[in-house]
Amino acid sequence: MLIAAVLLLQATVATPPPGEEPIAPYMQADANAGAKPFANDQLWQAFHGSAGVSRIVNDLVARNQKDPRISDIFRNQDMVRLRRTLKEQFCYILGGGCTYTGRDMKTAHKDMGIQQADMVALVENLQAAMRAEHVVFAAQNRFLAKLAPMHRDVVER
Ligand code: HEM
Repeated sequence: MLIAAVLLLQATVATPPPGEEPIAPYMQADANAGAKPFANDQLWQAFHGSAGVSRIVNDLVARNQKDPRISDIFRNQDMVRLRRTLKEQFCYILGGGCTYTGRDMKTAHKDMGIQQADMVALVENLQAAMRAEHVVFAAQNRFLAKLAPMHRDVVER
């Protein structure tokens, strides 16, 4: 059992998905997503399922990379992995039934020096991406309320 777990861990480290950089080993768990999922798929439908979340995440990452307030933080980071894990995280939280395979929020944002103003910029970009997808306002806000407490693990002081 232990050997199987070690082999699995090594496998995730040794062979990252196509186009992604290798990263330090970590334990995979849905709890790493940082929030409990909604009980049903109402929000998932409001975000237009996997096609909608995929468009929102691609748009969000592109906006962050272009945003002079925070673009430096995204430079030289693995955007292929970020898009994949963000889609998983959003799907998991929105009740889409996905598994989240990424790192916990504290580990993922460690030593980036992210400040409250950076968090505000990212949330504004997410709001713009959700608006572009025509996600109804109430659904946008319910999702943002799930993400808001994560500032404790993302923002450094
Ligand atoms: C609630 C707010 C946030 C959520 C839910 C979130 C979510 C995530 C996720 C899921 C990952 C990937 C984890 C992994 O690679 O295993 C990640 C990485 C990253 N995040 Fe965030 N994030 C948030 C806030 C921010 C902010 C405010 C910034 C900067 C302005 C930021 C910049 C980054 C960067 C640059 C990475 C890539 C790290 C790397 O490749 O090593 N994040 N974030």
